Amino acid sequence: MTEYKNLLVQTEQGITVVTINRPKSLNALNSATLDEMKQLFDILAKDEATKIVIITGGGESAFVAGADIVEMQKLNVIESRNFSRLGQAVFSAIENLPQIVIAAVNGYALGGGCELAMACDIRIASSKAVFGQPEVSLGIIPGFGGTQRLAQLVGKGRAKEIICTTNMLKVEEAYRIGLVNAMVEPNELMETAKAMANKIISKAPIAVQLAKDAINRGFDMSLQAGLAYEADNFGICFATADQKEGMKAYLEKSKPVFTGK
Ligand code: CAA
Repeated sequence: MTEYKNLLVQTEQGITVVTINRPKSLNALNSATLDEMKQLFDILAKDEATKIVIITGGGESAFVAGADIVEMQKLNVIESRNFSRLGQAVFSAIENLPQIVIAAVNGYALGGGCELAMACDIRIASSKAVFGQPEVSLGIIPGFGGTQRLAQLVGKGRAKEIICTTNMLKVEEAYRIGLVNAMVEPNELMETAKAMANKIISKAPIAVQLAKDAINRGFDMSLQAGLAYEADNFGICFATADQKEGMKAYLEKSKPVFTGK
């Protein structure tokens, strides 16, 4: 596997754990890190050994404390638009991976860090996690998808409050409003994320992939178009050996053995 300067990548039993690893800067996303992420996720999209991806942050206190303010400070209009487009492209690559991506949020998830977590399919947070979009305190707005994905996840009213007040959310509040799927003690974070990963891995892989695809695509469509898309993906499932296996096993009251075919 390629060597990365700011990422640690480890694949074991179908689970690839990606650690954003710049702990001295609380894993702030600079363009070098975003370039590495783009490269990695393009590889993982085609990697048959990776059944599920977990993203977490290196060090003790942060998932990702945002885009790198040191780098952003010097950007002009064109450069900052390109920086925003780079972050958006990386996060869209995550959202569109065929595999399910779980964010294991171990600490500060601020600005670009909250946006990274939101680009993942599922968020599990430790009780130490803190969420927020502090951008307007810096004279900017969220630029890696935050104005869009936060509103999709928690609704327009709450998204406007979080972004315009810059109030930081403790994990209980993030859980209450649906920003995170589960909250656990810090020492249980990776264990919980891996248990969920293994549960998903045990299901029919093509069906999981088609379900993720239908949910994602449907979000950008009218209900009628989304339903038509769902029916097409439903139909594709019936071309798989796993559909035959799943239904046969159910009717025989046995455990299905899925092959991903
Ligand atoms: N960019 C660059 N460096 C950062 C950073 C960031 N986003 N976040 C933290 N760091 C650096 C700090 O500058 C500090 O570096 P030095 O040791 O060289 O001073 C180091 O990480 C440790 O941070 P602190 O000493 O500040 O740690 P703390 O525990 O006292 O505070 C914190 C933690 C509340 C997260 C604080 O670091 C902080 O407020 N960070 C900035 C958060 C932020 O504003 N994020 C949004 C960025 S804008 C964005 O993300 C735009 C977008 O949508 C694309």
